[in-house]
Amino acid sequence: MTNRASKVTTKTFLQFKARGEKLALLTAYDWLTARLLDDCGIDGILVGDSANMVFYGQPTTLSISMDQLIYHTRAVAQAAKRALVIGDMPFMSYQVDAQEALRNAGRFLKEGGAEAVKVEGGKEIVPTVERLVGTGIPVMGHIGLVPQSVHRFGGYGIRGKSKEEADYLWESAILLQDAGCFSLVLEKIPADLAQRISKELRIPTIGIGAGPHCDGQILVVQDMLGLFEEFKPKFVRHYAKLAPQVKEAFHRYIDDVKGGNFPSPEESY
Ligand code: KIV
Repeated sequence: MTNRASKVTTKTFLQFKARGEKLALLTAYDWLTARLLDDCGIDGILVGDSANMVFYGQPTTLSISMDQLIYHTRAVAQAAKRALVIGDMPFMSYQVDAQEALRNAGRFLKEGGAEAVKVEGGKEIVPTVERLVGTGIPVMGHIGLVPQSVHRFGGYGIRGKSKEEADYLWESAILLQDAGCFSLVLEKIPADLAQRISKELRIPTIGIGAGPHCDGQILVVQDMLGLFEEFKPKFVRHYAKLAPQVKEAFHRYIDDVKGGNFPSPEESY
């Protein structure tokens, strides 16, 4: 079993895989959430571009900027003593060319305090991954449903069901590993395809909607806490249903203030 006190690094990720031990990751965008996660022994914290939807209330992940994600990464990195902190590279921060990708990835480490970055895409982004890894920046890949390509695919449907798509994902997984990725997110693909990819790779696969055979799992923290109420994908498990509890607390506070029941003499100086 893992020593819960020791710092998780990209090397630790590979050791987990070699031992057959699962990796548990969640997202965070703020210091307090990251601190709670780190206290509980989470292995990795992704400062995901999902922040654009669940923090900023935007309809997609596309419009979040480098500056916004670096701001959130700095807050998370400040709290995470054990967990590996991964900064999610926003749409158009790495797609133009490898040079610009390198400059932006470097900002995540230098300004944000991240220890790795994540990029979406298959075999077409191999040259970029090679450039980042070759410069000493660890890269987590992300294939399957890639939310930054929502308009290309016309939605957030499952990927990898046709033979053509499954072949593309299989080939991409191997090429991304060979390019130097230390782990690979598999999002919303059939469980048997994720199992075959996970068996084939030396690096750990991190599933989200990719079944139980991945080497680790990740969820968006506001989803698993039942805080985000706009929609619930099938792959999300609610470990708490906080939205109704939080609303109940807000209602009680409002009633107490309006009814003159807060603060009490004990809560006053
Ligand atoms: O942005 C994000 O939170 C992600 C995870 C869901 C993998 O990319």
